[in-house]
Amino acid sequence: MPQATYHFPKGFLWGTATSSHQVEGSNNNNNWSAWEAEDNRIRRGHKAGLACDWWGGRWKQDFDRAAETGQNAHRLSIEWSRIQPRPDIWDEDAIDYYRQMLRGLHQRGITPMVTLHHFTDPLWLAEMGGWENDQTPAIFENYTAKIVSALKEYTNLWVTINEPNVYAVMGYFYAAFPPGKNDLKTCFPVLRNMIRAHAAAYRVIHSLQPEAKVGIALNYQSFSPARAWLPVDRWLARFLHNNFNASFTDALRKGTFKFAFQSEEIPEARNTLDYFGLNYYTRSKVSLNLANKKEYFINLSHPKDARISDTGHIANVPDGFYEAIKFARGYNLPIYITENGIEDADDDLRPEYMVSHIHQVWRAVNINWPIKGYFHWSLVDNFEWERGWTQRFGLWGLDVETQARIRRPSVDLYQAICRENGISSAMVEQYTPTLFDEMFPS
Ligand code: BGC
Repeated sequence: MPQATYHFPKGFLWGTATSSHQVEGSNNNNNWSAWEAEDNRIRRGHKAGLACDWWGGRWKQDFDRAAETGQNAHRLSIEWSRIQPRPDIWDEDAIDYYRQMLRGLHQRGITPMVTLHHFTDPLWLAEMGGWENDQTPAIFENYTAKIVSALKEYTNLWVTINEPNVYAVMGYFYAAFPPGKNDLKTCFPVLRNMIRAHAAAYRVIHSLQPEAKVGIALNYQSFSPARAWLPVDRWLARFLHNNFNASFTDALRKGTFKFAFQSEEIPEARNTLDYFGLNYYTRSKVSLNLANKKEYFINLSHPKDARISDTGHIANVPDGFYEAIKFARGYNLPIYITENGIEDADDDLRPEYMVSHIHQVWRAVNINWPIKGYFHWSLVDNFEWERGWTQRFGLWGLDVETQARIRRPSVDLYQAICRENGISSAMVEQYTPTLFDEMFPS
């Protein structure tokens, strides 16, 4: 049997990613805690509740787990509603708690990457109209200045906004995230304000920390026509790609924002990315469906031959990841894979998903594309937004009742990859033998 290793460059970051509301627990001053309190918003009426109880201190054991299993990086987010519980109040104790967490990462040899906005807004901001309000970019800039001054000693890797495209589409088109609107037109001002906010944050971060590396985390979904022979399916797939995948980062490159047949110059946004942060999960097949008026006649489905995750959320399509990386490469910037993972409670698909996706990252680094790190989603099962606790993305499982952590076999696999800084034939033979012949042909 052939023996070989797919090596990654020296200094490559291997970690996991989390976000405040999903892991901290006891967040009750943001738009999501309010949303969870409403009927029928979250599957099975679930609530974030204590989540993984990081605010109660359990981050310590979870960071130990990460460090003991070879991870050298972790991406987490700051909960804005804790830092600024009211417009005129800064909570210095909360800021100090984040200092402790970031120090805790360094003490364990883990490099932090810090996200400033990951889906949640302080309740007072939501009540002012959230990102529809044109004052929000300046308010976000102010919060950014505060938090970056306080934490810059511990990191220079910043994600201003996580998945603005998902935030806008889920909150203002599918009505699955707060504020639960079903009005595509509103996505435009929301995204425009996020672009302005990012641009303002980019500048203020650099003024406080010249060596900072500032970016966003973009959710890239691979869209391919369900019927490749049908021009309208091809057109729709391209339309979704242009609007969902490309429009936000294009605005940060060119200073022109184009979305759903509207366009606006935002000159201050030009060249405001130091790296490309890429989140990739899946590919969707796109087709025209005249019966689906509510969703603008667009149907999305999984590719037929792909293995599908527990609740049908994600199709295992590693090719789509390579396509996403190629797209990111087009920006000529260093690339971080800021999220990639699958919901899989019994861990029967995660090993294959993980190896085949990391293999795509290797294909790219092997031709010298500047990928600097990979953050698996996620370290431990956490609160999955409108899907509540029904989806399990963690390397470690979580018993929500008892807070017990359950070590899934993928922990050992990911540990082997992190420690080896690569994927070896021995690992593939042990953990994902079905991939062996394809990855190491004799
Ligand atoms: C989000 C995460 C989420 C993950 C899996 C991403 O779109 O950034 O917050 O948990 O998907 O659903």
